[in-house]
Amino acid sequence: MTQTINLAKKDIPKQWYNIAADLPSPPPPILGPDGKPITPDMLAPVFPMNLIEQEVSTERWIDIPEEILEILSLWRPAPLKRATRLEQYLKTPAKIYYKDESVSPAGSHKPNTAVAQAWYNKQFGIEKLTTETGAGQWGSALSFACSLIGLECKIYMVRISFDQKPLRKTMMRVWGGKCFASPSPHTNFGREILKKMPDTPGSLGIAISEAIEDAVNDTSGKTRYSLGSVLNHVMLHQTVIGLEAKEQLKLINEKLPDVIIGCAGGGSNFAGLAFPFLYDKINGADITIIPTEPTACPTLTRGPFTYDFGDTACQTPLIAMYTLGHNFVPPPIHAGGLRYHGMSPLVSHATKLGLFQPMALDQLKCYQAALTWARTEGTICAPETSHAIACAIDQANKAKDEGKEKVILFNYSGHGLMDLMGYEKFLDDQLTEYHLPEEYLNKSLESIKDLPQV
Ligand SMILES: Cc1ncc(COP(=O)(O)O)c(C=O)c1O
Repeated sequence: MTQTINLAKKDIPKQWYNIAADLPSPPPPILGPDGKPITPDMLAPVFPMNLIEQEVSTERWIDIPEEILEILSLWRPAPLKRATRLEQYLKTPAKIYYKDESVSPAGSHKPNTAVAQAWYNKQFGIEKLTTETGAGQWGSALSFACSLIGLECKIYMVRISFDQKPLRKTMMRVWGGKCFASPSPHTNFGREILKKMPDTPGSLGIAISEAIEDAVNDTSGKTRYSLGSVLNHVMLHQTVIGLEAKEQLKLINEKLPDVIIGCAGGGSNFAGLAFPFLYDKINGADITIIPTEPTACPTLTRGPFTYDFGDTACQTPLIAMYTLGHNFVPPPIHAGGLRYHGMSPLVSHATKLGLFQPMALDQLKCYQAALTWARTEGTICAPETSHAIACAIDQANKAKDEGKEKVILFNYSGHGLMDLMGYEKFLDDQLTEYHLPEEYLNKSLESIKDLPQV
């Protein structure tokens, strides 16, 4: 029998878990343009102070305001499911559990932080948010959140995804968001890039630069920028995923997982599931925790851990993270949300400390895993999510070879019903394996060689 483990509405987590309280050492400080650690007020033109406070907080638990809980309860607690039909197909002794974040209104984990960010901005008196989006999941999540909370929302969408996923734009419009292809003619930076590279597919780094420029140029002071991943407060908001999963496993008397997996673009769905369990690992539990990424954008597996900018126009402070260089324009693979040059500083730091074992997977293997999933478990996953499924299948096969009844838990970060073009190309044999060439990576890393080292 298939198994779904649901929590009651009243058991939705009431606090977020902050991993910064429990890491064995603090991450390196964020640096300003002068190479000195920044102070919270320097972030104030970009983010509201209540979110900046969360960004720098080292409190272990942070209360979730009642109104945020009320909106999250539209779809949370999200179900934990056991993939028994996939287990049978693989003939593995492993148990495969997944947290289903595709049940949110926008179809992914992204609304968990979108609702929180919109709410804190509104509390701070902000009227409009600007943002970037890769695959369109974040842009639609923020449009949804802004529409419920009463804010305007303007989205710069990476051109390749804008062209590949036109209906994501429609979703944003339904929720009242305004979406433009990036690079766009609406910002100085967008115009500059369009002049230099008129045919560029765009990148998250470029779209972030445009959204920040748009926010800080509003002289009324009523616009702020919102980021869907990478930042500490985003990781914090996503921990409801892992906190619920822990309760759900307890409910069926299941042990702590042996293996935890999440795909990692900027790191937020991975961290959301993994951080509450990382607490146990830091305190002695034997858990292998794997962030997965595309071989086309191998930030954690091939990038250096060093200081870099979060955006292409170098407007952000310098962040210590794994990076492929802020000028990196990733190949146009279909997992748009995994095409970011950098990585969450918290995920990066924990990886550097040896707490995570990152893995890179090729897109053909991931699409094959997505088909196996659809033909056993039934649902069609987002191309990003297929990177977690492919790894879960590998781990289940490994458990079979070792004859061990391992517990595997992964994050089903989103559905792929708006991403069918990638499936179409895969089914028509139009996709190829793609491993980032060494020369391409080295060229991109040249842009950061003179920046401070960790
Ligand atoms: C479905 C889905 N999964 C994963 C990601 C990757 O982002 P993150 O690493 O922040 O979870 C995205 C980003 O757009 C996404 O849409």
